[in-house]
Amino acid sequence: MRHAEAVIDLDAVEANTRLLRRAAAGAALMAVVKADGYGHGAAPVARAALAGGADMLGVATLPEAVALRGAGIAAPLAAWLWTPGEDVRAAIAAGVQIGVSSLDHLAAVRLSADVAPANSDSPAGRVPIHLKVDTGLGRNGVMPGDLTRLLDAIASAERVGDVEMRGIMSHLACADIPGDPSIDVQVRAFENAIAAAEAAGLIPRWRHLGNTAVALAVPGARFNLVRCGIGLYGLSPFADRAGLRPAMTLHASVALVKRVPAGQGVGYGFTYRTSRESTLALVPLGYGDGIPRSAGNVGQVWLGGKRRTIAGRVAMDQVVVDCGDDDIRVGEDVVIFGSGDQGEPTADDWAGYCDTINYEIVTRIAPRVRRRYVGGSWGEVGDIAVGATDSGAGGSAQ
Ligand SMILES: Cc1ncc(COP(=O)(O)O)c(C=O)c1O
Repeated sequence: MRHAEAVIDLDAVEANTRLLRRAAAGAALMAVVKADGYGHGAAPVARAALAGGADMLGVATLPEAVALRGAGIAAPLAAWLWTPGEDVRAAIAAGVQIGVSSLDHLAAVRLSADVAPANSDSPAGRVPIHLKVDTGLGRNGVMPGDLTRLLDAIASAERVGDVEMRGIMSHLACADIPGDPSIDVQVRAFENAIAAAEAAGLIPRWRHLGNTAVALAVPGARFNLVRCGIGLYGLSPFADRAGLRPAMTLHASVALVKRVPAGQGVGYGFTYRTSRESTLALVPLGYGDGIPRSAGNVGQVWLGGKRRTIAGRVAMDQVVVDCGDDDIRVGEDVVIFGSGDQGEPTADDWAGYCDTINYEIVTRIAPRVRRRYVGGSWGEVGDIAVGATDSGAGGSAQ
């Protein structure tokens, strides 16, 4: 009997990748598998996305990138969020393409250029970098006023063979609001940055500004590569599902059923009381598993063929559902969220219950919840722990 598990449909990830690649209409696709593949498991998702036609992989942090290499994934892979002084050497030695946002980042990369392996575009000892430009988001990336100095430094590092400017990248603030005037402003700023790079003698192969929303709905911001995260997992940045298939279904089994009298308080603070004699079902998932505490008395689950609202507060390990006079059995399946096809709540519904976004609902599912993988066109994957190191598909395009 399972306690709780997140079932990840790798066929859905593969199909979503194909859909996004078609939607991006000619742009290449980077599959974004940061934050352990938005909670789905970075390595299995990376393999499914590569099988679905992803050209490369992207993560935020250097350890995330090194872990993917440790899992046997050899595909082109970029990491863009790191602090100078961190162990960039390990990532460079693993053939990771490194995001550079400042002179300090560039200096740190150059110090470890000697360990860069050869790849199809450059000899050993030359680090492929992606210059990250702040076109208006106000987060990571070099500001336009500091761009020329950084470009000059990259150009001289290229001349001596320490780096190769593989890409130039930025990120949009309002990609999920097509038509928002900030998109045009950021696109123009990005075009200016590309022109400045070219003026400095740098011709980056990859020019990437957009995410899933851009792949689906903002043709003017695709350049020649889109970085897709949420869409891989079958969730849409828009109200419309856009033909995507949710990949994660979160299940638990009813751990205990009991009959209680009218007026029974349920959970910490007694924020719920039964209105009459009733059957309570104990569901062994709580905020320690990533269920938002704000779902108390509002979040719904699918149990016994209907949606039922959580009774009382979400505790660390469990929630309770008031099932009235329905016949509920120990071990019965509870779906917290899934595709919605049977009527169960979706990650979008949960985002609504908890005043957040679907991204957060899936990404926050904790390591304590076992992942079970189904599908996968490269062969049987079966049950593997999150971050497990089985070998699998890897691409070769750089
Ligand atoms: C820099 C960057 N690029 C791409 C993505 C992927 O965005 P999305 O999940 O909306 O496709 C993210 C996600 O937050 C990001 O931070």
